[in-house]
Amino acid sequence: MNTPVVLSSTFHHADDNHYLRGEASDTIRAFEDAVGALEGGHAVAFASGMGAIAAIAEGQPSGTTAVVPTAAYSGSVAIFAEQQRLGRMSVRPVDIVDTDAVLAALPGADLLWLETVTNPLIGVADLPALIAGARETGARVVVDATFSTPLLVRPLSLGADVVVHSATKYLAGHSDLLMGVLVTASAEDAEVWRTRRTLTGAIPGALECYLALRGIRTLAVRMERAQANAMELARRLDAHPAVTRVRYPGLPSDPGHERAARLHAGFGAMISFEVAGDAADATRLCESLRLISHATSLGGVESLIERRAMHQPDADMGTPPNLLRFSVGIEHVEDLWDDLSRAMRPS
Ligand SMILES: Cc1ncc(COP(=O)(O)O)c(C=O)c1O
Repeated sequence: MNTPVVLSSTFHHADDNHYLRGEASDTIRAFEDAVGALEGGHAVAFASGMGAIAAIAEGQPSGTTAVVPTAAYSGSVAIFAEQQRLGRMSVRPVDIVDTDAVLAALPGADLLWLETVTNPLIGVADLPALIAGARETGARVVVDATFSTPLLVRPLSLGADVVVHSATKYLAGHSDLLMGVLVTASAEDAEVWRTRRTLTGAIPGALECYLALRGIRTLAVRMERAQANAMELARRLDAHPAVTRVRYPGLPSDPGHERAARLHAGFGAMISFEVAGDAADATRLCESLRLISHATSLGGVESLIERRAMHQPDADMGTPPNLLRFSVGIEHVEDLWDDLSRAMRPS
């Protein structure tokens, strides 16, 4: 019932494999087969989400023009800025939630970088409209679907060229490993990324692949429970006097609601909310929680919360100082609400 964990860096020449960095092992390929099947393409696993993202960003030809989000996962924004600083790429930053702004930035661009749901502002991009625009102007489209998982959005089926995930998050689901994966519609493209992985040494470990595969087995039930919790908590937070704004596309009042309802098979389990007061009040709230952990990252079975603007790159991209990014886990919803409502009670 289980894929063997192949712990070998080298193989007898009589075998098909020779050396792990260049050829992967059965454990790695089993993970790739599972994610490839979920996304409907050819998957290449990496040692982290950033490993996959770097393979793509750094693998573009010199002189590439890239349309990239102004506000998205800070590592992705930073790696494109770095390519520009090195003189390899010209970057056009746009708000990817603003479809007209993206379409206006596309002529002459080679690459469009999108997120299904933006980190941490929870904006929802209109993928079909943006992908159609990029098709017309000839830009290749890469979509980071970490927040959505293939259960909610499958960008390749909408015409994207590549979908990437930080498998560290929902796919693995237990906050116990770092992994990334990219999936392409074309087998030839997958070979190109595999070669980059070999050259940059970004192959994941076998134990990580085994654990991530085990995580994928429960992805559907974890997402179902986490989303149901998120919907209920978003409603309650929205009605709470200590909360000034809730960003969750499941709320009919959210600017992304119409798009998410139309394009996604669920509203996900990431909520960002702004608390009354300043950054210190928001941090105090995080520190007084007992069940929800004050920690970075997302997508695990346990709920995590953090004030994103504590990280300078997030503050620089306009994340409000009092915004908390809340990765809703699979605990009992009443336990989560007890924790939140106690922490928000005036002392
Ligand atoms: C949307 C998104 N993409 C990519 C990454 C990078 O993934 P990793 O931490 O596995 O390198 C993250 C990490 O937080 C993320 O949130």
